[in-house]
Amino acid sequence: MQLLDGKKVSEDIKNEIAAEVAKMKAKGEKVPHLAAIIVGNDGASLTYVGSKVKACERVGFESTLIKMPSTTSETELLKKIKELNEDSNIDGFIVQLPLPPQIDTQEVIMAIHPSKDVDGFHPENFGKMALDMSTFIPATPFGILELLERYNVQTQGKHTVVIGRSHIVGRPMSILMGRKGFPGNSTVTVTHTHTKNITQITSQADIIISALGVPNYLKAEMIKDDAVIIDVGITRVADDTTEKGYKIVGDVDFENVSKKASYITPVPGGVGPMTIAMLLKNTLIARANKK
Ligand code: GUN
Repeated sequence: MQLLDGKKVSEDIKNEIAAEVAKMKAKGEKVPHLAAIIVGNDGASLTYVGSKVKACERVGFESTLIKMPSTTSETELLKKIKELNEDSNIDGFIVQLPLPPQIDTQEVIMAIHPSKDVDGFHPENFGKMALDMSTFIPATPFGILELLERYNVQTQGKHTVVIGRSHIVGRPMSILMGRKGFPGNSTVTVTHTHTKNITQITSQADIIISALGVPNYLKAEMIKDDAVIIDVGITRVADDTTEKGYKIVGDVDFENVSKKASYITPVPGGVGPMTIAMLLKNTLIARANKK
């Protein structure tokens, strides 16, 4: 079994980006600037956004974190988005999801100017992605592609099973794994809450990408020998033995599944750090597109 070490690969990518930024600085060019909006006080979301901002510092980007209260109205958030769209100093920005229930997520995503949509969530960018056009690829699927590529995991002609159909991971991932090219060229099955006999499907998979959010869901009995396992799950589970009072648990029963798999991502240290690295990459692209 080979571990797909997202922590290490994401460090490599951040070093590559930092080197690009150093070159920009040496030439007297403006460095990329990422902004993030977070609405409310969800602990996990605050942690993720904090990590994104910290990663900006690490590679030499400028960053701006905008915290808005949980009572923020949709109008107020749309006003802030308009400001960021019009601010030439900001190259790209994200609105951390999920949003409080009084705010329509689709309206918010559609308000982000596509040229600054480094999450790749705007329908224009999502459509371009689906049509193999050059665009921002959502950071988590982009990170998974990058991991597969850097470990030279073969995908052509393979059967990829994606568990989950979220707009952030499952849906784009299923499109990307089926597209022409590498990684890609695989035959994709998407499973979701209404899928029957899921074990019958997962046990035929050469590659399983699980983005479900149910701790330890995927068991060894559900996979075939030498399957490639990508675990996108990051659920917080109460644990008194840790300092924070919780631990992060993936969708995959790692202990048993890893004995059968050919490649597997750990949680933490697999897909999570890759997401952040690829958001930085998209921001670098957004900066370069402006020139
Ligand atoms: N919430 C969970 N993942 C993401 C992401 O990649 N981007 C944003 N904006 N929100 C998220």
